Amino acid sequence: MKASLLLLAIANLVVGIAHNGTAPEGCKKLSSDSDWPPLAEWRAAMPEVEVHKQTAKAKHPDYVLQAESYKDVSAAVKFCAKNSIRLVIIASGHDFLGRNDGPSGLTLDVSLLKGVRVLESFTPTAQGAERPLKKANVIVPVPGRQAAVTFGVGVPAQQLHNAVYPSKLLTIGAAHGSVSVAGGWGLTGGHGPLTHKYGLGVDQFLEFKVVTADGEIKVANDAVNQDLFWALRGGGGSTFGVVVEATVKAYPNERITAADFFITTKGSPYSDGLWSAYTYFTSQMPSMVKAGVSGYFYIQPNSISTLMIHPGDIAGTAKTAAFWKPHLDKMASFQGMNAANLTIFNYGSYKHYFDAHFGSVDDIPDEGCVSGMKQRIKRHGPGGDMMSPTPNGAIPLDSRLLGAEHLQSPVLKEAWMKASPGIQGHLVANPDLKVGNTSVLPAWRKAYVHMIGTRVGNWTSVDSLRRLAPEMGAYANEAFYASANWKTEFWGENYDMLSKIKTRYDPNFVFWTTPGINADFMEVKEGGRLCRVANGGTSNLPPKNDNQNIGSGGGGAINSAGFGTAPKGKSGCA
Ligand SMILES: Cc1cc2nc3c(=O)[nH]c(=O)nc-3n(C[C@H](O)[C@H](O)[C@H](O)COP(=O)(O)OP(=O)(O)OC[C@H]3O[C@@H](n4cnc5c(N)ncnc54)[C@H](O)[C@@H]3O)c2cc1C
Ligand SMILES: *[C@@H]1O[C@H](CO)[C@@H](O)[C@H](O)[C@H]1NC(C)=O
Ligand SMILES: *[C@@H]1O[C@H](CO)[C@@H](O)[C@H](O)[C@H]1NC(C)=O
Ligand SMILES: *[C@@H]1O[C@H](CO)[C@@H](O)[C@H](O)[C@H]1NC(C)=O
Ligand SMILES: *[C@@H]1O[C@H](CO)[C@@H](O)[C@H](O)[C@H]1NC(C)=O
Repeated sequence: MKASLLLLAIANLVVGIAHNGTAPEGCKKLSSDSDWPPLAEWRAAMPEVEVHKQTAKAKHPDYVLQAESYKDVSAAVKFCAKNSIRLVIIASGHDFLGRNDGPSGLTLDVSLLKGVRVLESFTPTAQGAERPLKKANVIVPVPGRQAAVTFGVGVPAQQLHNAVYPSKLLTIGAAHGSVSVAGGWGLTGGHGPLTHKYGLGVDQFLEFKVVTADGEIKVANDAVNQDLFWALRGGGGSTFGVVVEATVKAYPNERITAADFFITTKGSPYSDGLWSAYTYFTSQMPSMVKAGVSGYFYIQPNSISTLMIHPGDIAGTAKTAAFWKPHLDKMASFQGMNAANLTIFNYGSYKHYFDAHFGSVDDIPDEGCVSGMKQRIKRHGPGGDMMSPTPNGAIPLDSRLLGAEHLQSPVLKEAWMKASPGIQGHLVANPDLKVGNTSVLPAWRKAYVHMIGTRVGNWTSVDSLRRLAPEMGAYANEAFYASANWKTEFWGENYDMLSKIKTRYDPNFVFWTTPGINADFMEVKEGGRLCRVANGGTSNLPPKNDNQNIGSGGGGAINSAGFGTAPKGKSGCA
């Protein structure tokens, strides 16, 4: 049996070779094409390129390059452009939509591009910021002057906090220390524990260095390539180029008080009283943000739990306890609710708060999970538990942004009840902030709250919220990969300008990801071949994601923690 299968395979191979021609016009090449470059050609362009080790879950690109310099990135982009090879970019590997993987071509891993340079101030110039230093410098911030920090794109959120901490500064990043700052997080939106006070990830950037489709390293800031600079602040990853370096704002460090409360119901699971308490709590959120408070909130069958944050001026035990007392008393007053317990923690710095609440990035047991790779990369994917390092999959989440009128709607409670089970909330946005003109989904500027929902088959916990807030949108990084009306859901009125800029910088689709700007100008054809489509650009559904490593969704979003707990101990590597 085995032998005959083998013979069949060999026969197919021979027939295949005989019949396989060159890649069709407008298509990316596959390794079975006669014009696929031989390994020697790959190695001539990229001496460090390796054959990508395949896993059982899904097919990965044929080759992988872990770039160690901006030149490596440039060489990879040029090679893929010249040879019509599909290019997949991966930084931290946290993408929930599977956009850091593909079944053919080259994986370009940018996670080794490190380095940090702390700056007293930043002035945009055509030549760009000085390169980051191997070991971060320490500065004395000048009061009243906007400090900044330049770093390689391989530096994740918590490494950046750690690097600016000796300069008594803080930077903005995800609520999970190993997410990149200038990869998918900051290029698409980027919310975090202090984004209600300092703006989203997109609002932090002062400059990018980016390798565009022509293989050149371009500087994009307020002085040069302003269109690209705008597009990179919201248009998404894998679209306009490979970011190799960024400069973001840094702020004077500040103390943080964390207020974690837990309130239970004596009633049946998801009782009416529990929803009343949750509805009251969420209706107060606009005023909480106005008071300077942010946080994360969860509802379980018999409880509501939170990680609330009081930064800077509003920190301190007495102030925090006084702030929560009336809210917790009110929540406890609903049918069947117990008194809440509130735990208050004080931290002298954002870094200490983050390390204690979200876990130190250095503890994350991700070493050696991706064989053949030179270093530690934390990857999350399907498997029920998002914290597990299953590589490069997609998880069917869903997402909705909510503004004040939604949180105070008379039908809010009904919408929450219909969204059950399977929502978690992020109180991370602030419509009153003065921010610049970026390409992020405009609904972020009206939102207070981002909700992540769960998707099981065709049911999504977010449907009722979508009906509650039809004019808002979804955060592309935590949304369903096959969302209908994806262009307006993810980019709103900015889509058309983003599409023009994409065409200007990458007319031949050296970069392609779905969902992504202009994604529907290409599609995956039979046999996994990525090809241009005639009359593209009109699709109401994003092109099919050909990452076959799809998780069940189900409990994923709810169990994930992801926010608020650190993985403990060594988890098994797939
Ligand atoms: C546990 C967990 C916690 C999270 N917490 C938060 C949170 O608190 N706030 C929040 O906003 N989001 C959060 N996210 C979602 C996060 O924003 C996305 O997963 C995001 O895509 C991660 O970007 P990355 O570059 O780190 O990941 P990757 O998977 O490496 O990349 C994501 C996308 O960006 C592209 N990309 C990566 N690097 C580059 C580059 N240098 N140039 C161009 N394109 C690039 C990739 O090709 C891919 O399409 C979380 C995700 C997880 C798994
Ligand atoms: C090329 O040949 C392989 C077998 O070697 C076959 O499976 C594949 O479908 C062929 N591809 C094309 C595009 O003809
Ligand atoms: C709060 O309640 C939860 C659930 O009963 C419990 O696990 C936790 O220890 C309590 N915390 C305090 C400080 O009482
Ligand atoms: C923001 O910038 C974009 C891109 O340059 C431009 O199209 C748009 O008109 C600007 N919007 C505002 C409000 O200035
Ligand atoms: C889910 O929706 C898709 C697309 O509308 C449809 O083809 C499919 O049959 C639906 N599946 C279920 C289980 O309803």
